Amino acid sequence: MNRLEAKTAVVTGAGTQGAGIGNGKACAIVYAREGAKVLAVDIDFEAAQETARLIRSEGGVCEAFAADVSKSADCQNAIEACVEKFGRVDVLHNNVGITNSGNPVEYGEDDWDRMMNINVKSMFLTAKHALPYMERQGSGSIVNIGSINGVRAIPFPKTAYAASKAAVIGLSREIAIQYAAKGIRCNVVLVGLVRTPIVENNNVKLYGGNIEEMWRMRDRMSPTGKQGEAWDVAHACLFLASDDSKYVNGVVLPVDGGLINMVKL
Ligand SMILES: NC(=O)c1ccc[n+]([C@@H]2O[C@H](COP(=O)([O-])OP(=O)(O)OC[C@H]3O[C@@H](n4cnc5c(N)ncnc54)[C@H](O)[C@@H]3O)[C@@H](O)[C@H]2O)c1
Repeated sequence: MNRLEAKTAVVTGAGTQGAGIGNGKACAIVYAREGAKVLAVDIDFEAAQETARLIRSEGGVCEAFAADVSKSADCQNAIEACVEKFGRVDVLHNNVGITNSGNPVEYGEDDWDRMMNINVKSMFLTAKHALPYMERQGSGSIVNIGSINGVRAIPFPKTAYAASKAAVIGLSREIAIQYAAKGIRCNVVLVGLVRTPIVENNNVKLYGGNIEEMWRMRDRMSPTGKQGEAWDVAHACLFLASDDSKYVNGVVLPVDGGLINMVKL
């Protein structure tokens, strides 16, 4: 308990698209339970407010903030809001990520740019605005949410998504090394098959259109026989966000039940 006591956290994509608990919301809740003051950032202000309400109902501290993290000014405003409200920025947790499918021929150029802007440029922009504060503090932990699709092909044509998630790893590695001597760490969590509303909303067509069958298929695809939950992602992120991992920097941590090690014949 209290692994983030006296710390603050900016969590992007802290709402959830749809009913239930997504990865960003779970991370915001777990950080607050561990003592962090959380700025819950989302383009959907109501979704961010819902996360803030949940955290406050448990006695935690959370403020909702509306921002489109693909825009530099919004990222700057979010980081400044965290400093104004809570005094510092200890944890920057970049969860925002969208997903869709298509091979390079069918995938639109505008869609490609949008995917890159939302999934990768956003992480560059939030870091750009948070790093000067972290440097002044002499400490900070950045947790970027990747995907196993950033290092492995999956059975669907995820051209732009896979490229964006691979880029998240390169960006994070650069930050990790460039800022290590300044007390700032940057790590990536590779999310595997996790049962969250974003999957229900975006992936069901890829699995044939039946939601329950999709969940069964994803359970079967997992080495453990079960998909993960958003809480599994959140607890791994908590380790990376907190000082428990103070000598862990530039790692790419799969949270996938071992899926990444499997070879499908
Ligand atoms: N669930 C899985 O199986 C799985 C697998 C691999 C990776 N992931 C990763 O997990 C992350 C998403 O997790 P989630 O469950 O929280 O998803 P989610 O879609 O429920 O929540 C993400 C939040 O981001 C917000 N958002 C979208 N675009 C934004 C923008 N431009 N600016 C600010 N906010 C924006 C949405 O409004 C939403 O509330 C993504 O990075 C995704 O790639 C998930």
